[in-house]
Amino acid sequence: LPDQDFSQQAHIPSFQKVILSPSFSLSTDSSTLYRFQYQEMYKRSIEDPSGFWSDMASEFYWKKKWDHQVCSENLDIRKGNINIEVGNHISFIHMQHYRIHNQLMGFSQWFKGGVTNICYNCLDRNIESGNGEKIAIHWEGNEPGVDDSLTYNQLLDRVCQLANYLKQNGVKKGDSVIIYLPMLMELPISMLACARIGAVHSVVFAGFSAESLEQRIIDCKPKIVITCNAVKRGSKIINLKDIVDSALSESSQNGVCVGLCLTSANESAMKREATKWIKERDVWWQDDVPKYSTKCDVEWVDGEDPLFLLYTSGSTGKPKGVLHTTAGYMIYTAATFKYAFDYKQSDIYWCTADCGWITGHSYVAYGPLLNGATVVVYEGVPNYPDPGRCWDIVDKYKVTIFYTAPTLVRSLMRDGDEYVTRYSRKSLRVLGSVGEPINPSAWRWFFNVVGDSRCPISDTWWQTETGGFMITPLPGAWPQKPGSATFPFFGVQPVIVDEKGKEMKGECSGYLCVKTSWPGAFRTLFGDHERYETTYFSAFPGYYFSGDGCRRDKDGYYWLTGRVDDVINVSGHRIGTAEVESALVSHPKCAEAAVVGVEHEVKGQCIYAFVTPVEGVAYSEDLKKSLVLSVRTNIGAFAAPDKIHWAPGLPKTRSGKIMRRILRKIASRQLDELGDTSTLADPNVVDQLIALADS
Ligand code: WT7
Repeated sequence: LPDQDFSQQAHIPSFQKVILSPSFSLSTDSSTLYRFQYQEMYKRSIEDPSGFWSDMASEFYWKKKWDHQVCSENLDIRKGNINIEVGNHISFIHMQHYRIHNQLMGFSQWFKGGVTNICYNCLDRNIESGNGEKIAIHWEGNEPGVDDSLTYNQLLDRVCQLANYLKQNGVKKGDSVIIYLPMLMELPISMLACARIGAVHSVVFAGFSAESLEQRIIDCKPKIVITCNAVKRGSKIINLKDIVDSALSESSQNGVCVGLCLTSANESAMKREATKWIKERDVWWQDDVPKYSTKCDVEWVDGEDPLFLLYTSGSTGKPKGVLHTTAGYMIYTAATFKYAFDYKQSDIYWCTADCGWITGHSYVAYGPLLNGATVVVYEGVPNYPDPGRCWDIVDKYKVTIFYTAPTLVRSLMRDGDEYVTRYSRKSLRVLGSVGEPINPSAWRWFFNVVGDSRCPISDTWWQTETGGFMITPLPGAWPQKPGSATFPFFGVQPVIVDEKGKEMKGECSGYLCVKTSWPGAFRTLFGDHERYETTYFSAFPGYYFSGDGCRRDKDGYYWLTGRVDDVINVSGHRIGTAEVESALVSHPKCAEAAVVGVEHEVKGQCIYAFVTPVEGVAYSEDLKKSLVLSVRTNIGAFAAPDKIHWAPGLPKTRSGKIMRRILRKIASRQLDELGDTSTLADPNVVDQLIALADS
């Protein structure tokens, strides 16, 4: 890879206007940093985290300042040798899982004792500072020409009405609310309304199936589910209300009965009359919510009160409910947004992620709104009505910061440059990438074609668990290398360890861990604190383990190399092999299944499933189709296997463990790299599998 200095080409207008002061301000446009400033600030963030983060936090409104300690870490927990009894002395049901008697169970807590509210800081604070008439959200519908917008004032009104509605319907501080919505304005409005009243939102990506939704409803027992009747994605109409109906009826069979389903009428996708309705339970948003007052008092919460739960995949079947709290997350998403995108008040920012994933939480909703930014929210898909849509939107709103995923870059790259060059894209200033390592050729296309070789790319490495960016370029601060996430954000101390957990120095490659806490860190896995400890803190005692492999080059740049656990990254979506396997074996004709990830031109990785049908069942194309359908209904279409490979037997060790290493080689047809197969219980299965490879 060329060590070209891309920042030389990347013209950042304010690059020269930097004030040399390592202080933070959300209200001034002085974030563009020189390299030495980064170094100075980084040094301070590590040597004096309390001072550093206090400065950042002082930008926000606090009803009461935090206790003298900005951060406390629990090193014992991190060594895995503390055993806390889970008692009943809890103030709110949703806190019992991580805070008992105010005793710290997790890895760390930040701004404890501080009293604030993230919705207030996103909306009221920005309005009070004179930004009430600034556009908060430009909403672009699936169909070109269908759009809407809300100023900060209008957004606050809408949020307050919903917050009042929720309160009136029994939602209290600490209660959970499930939001199952596509990218309509109602989605960020719902998140903010929950935050305003101290309720814990759990957004479920609207591409998840009824069964996945049901599983999440059963886990977090929401007071209310918020959804819409249908959505149009491209030319396809998806009836979301049917999915919710089925999830709610199943979950009530399982003892969790949700009495209220607030449904927004998305009439451009489906008429109200066509929507199935359960009178006692369902309410049209448009009928009821607008009746409520546009003023709603804020529920002031402790900095460590939970803000949201977001389910993500792990290496076992059950999804993990990642829990984030208020203050640390607030400060971290605001600061990372500001610095990694070199945000200025005049920017128009568009992140293509859905609020159903962490990227949408931190960098469609909270991070940008905390900065008072104007955000584009797009309902549709990137190639509808044609592959030029993204650049059409960029030109329409004069987008200056465009944040997306490598899979989208690769897919549009395949459609040809003409779809890009037909649009001006002059407004673009900074580009961003997230979700998986961006391969250098996609990086170059993004840089040269989309950004006309002018815009630096922030390749941001982070995770649902980290809340915000961990390793990321700061535009213009240092030379970029295509495919490297470059250096750690302030306060983050990445370490690369070997198998034995020994920290390696200098140029090396191994497992990526993080030493000491950062404000955006998640606090627990909801209802399963033990899994939190074992998954993240026991593999390499003393560190947070990310699950990613990583290399550090001679210049200290970090290069992420992908997951090292049983998690597959398909188009930037995290999917556990065990989840797909259990969806497959739930099919009555499937005896056993093993799933691996295989490199894919557009998706990064795709799902490749080895399936053993039950005794006596014949292999057929129909069976393949119904196996794939089983995954779609259990998880969602985005997790559907690309390939089903018949497997009369699976390669197992004598102790019965499936050797995925061998399956991965067979799946990627690297047959001369199978390695040692002599430890298998039955080495013949390998030949059988190879023979059946393309049947
Ligand atoms: C996993 C986290 C957090 C954003 C969306 C995904 C991979 C994410 C990068 C990047 C290389 C990346 C990692 C990570 N990943 N961003 N810039 N370079 N890999 O969130 O679902 O929690 O997945 O996504 O493997 O562990 P997520």
